[in-house]
Amino acid sequence: MSSTELYSEKLLSGKKVAAHVNERVAGQVAKLKEQGVEPKLSVILVGDDPASQVYVRRKEKSCQKLGILSQTYRLSAETTEQDLLKLIEDLNNDPSNHGILVQLPLPGHISEDTILLSVHPRKDVDCFHPQNVGLLVSGKPFVLPCTPAGIVEILQYYKISTEGRHVVVLGRSNIVGKPMANLLMQKNSRANATVTVAHSRTKNIAQFTRQADIVIAAIGKARFLTADMVKPGAVVIDVGINRIEANNEKGYALVGDADFEGLVEKVSAITPVPGGVGPMTIAMLMQNTVTAAAAQTEAHI
Ligand code: GUN
Repeated sequence: MSSTELYSEKLLSGKKVAAHVNERVAGQVAKLKEQGVEPKLSVILVGDDPASQVYVRRKEKSCQKLGILSQTYRLSAETTEQDLLKLIEDLNNDPSNHGILVQLPLPGHISEDTILLSVHPRKDVDCFHPQNVGLLVSGKPFVLPCTPAGIVEILQYYKISTEGRHVVVLGRSNIVGKPMANLLMQKNSRANATVTVAHSRTKNIAQFTRQADIVIAAIGKARFLTADMVKPGAVVIDVGINRIEANNEKGYALVGDADFEGLVEKVSAITPVPGGVGPMTIAMLMQNTVTAAAAQTEAHI
């Protein structure tokens, strides 16, 4: 038996929670349509990064499943910053379009900061615009950052409280680590955590993770978090998707930032890779698109 089968009661299934969120969002889409609003998401992919292509296809599929209109702009890696800014401006001004997602990373000659700043904050379904980041930090969010919000949904679904508990976030990226820490330190019952952020420059990371009730691994290193780094009964949320060489048809395998096989016996709960955090990021993107569509049309959801 594989360890995912053997320890199935410890698995936090993002797939299952995403299905639950999708049901809620599908209901909101139906409500919008009753009010004459057709929610629509525009996705921009620049270049041909294979992982980004996979993610963008998943986003298209999810829109289709939930009745959200979607349009994907696949642009060449040579696209200029100016051309990209022009497309975003057109989408900002198009009232039939409610959400704009620029898939990251962008090619090196395009400034990520300039592009993210150009997306209208009400159409910023990633919560990457500085205005939306500011609203999140100050506790009055418009939309929530997709991956961190998806992790909160997983914890809620499995009744794992963060209130008064010590959460150690590994990683300080703008996409996961920083917004995750911000979300969990907010003053509300879905948060109220004591948060430590550790990262590549932290000395002796294990001294922090060993004190954690919940570890969120988003450090981008394959199987970085090992069993000796957590206390017995801890909860592990694995955000990583790393390609490692493998003796299979593809020649590679996808593994998380946590050493699942080593950890599963010691922890009380853990997300698998795949089927953990990944599906939640997309589910929360769908939620944000519906929220954005309602805000722009003054419709109710
Ligand atoms: N690249 C990796 N994750 C994400 C994400 O959540 N949103 C966007 N736009 N790009 C990404």
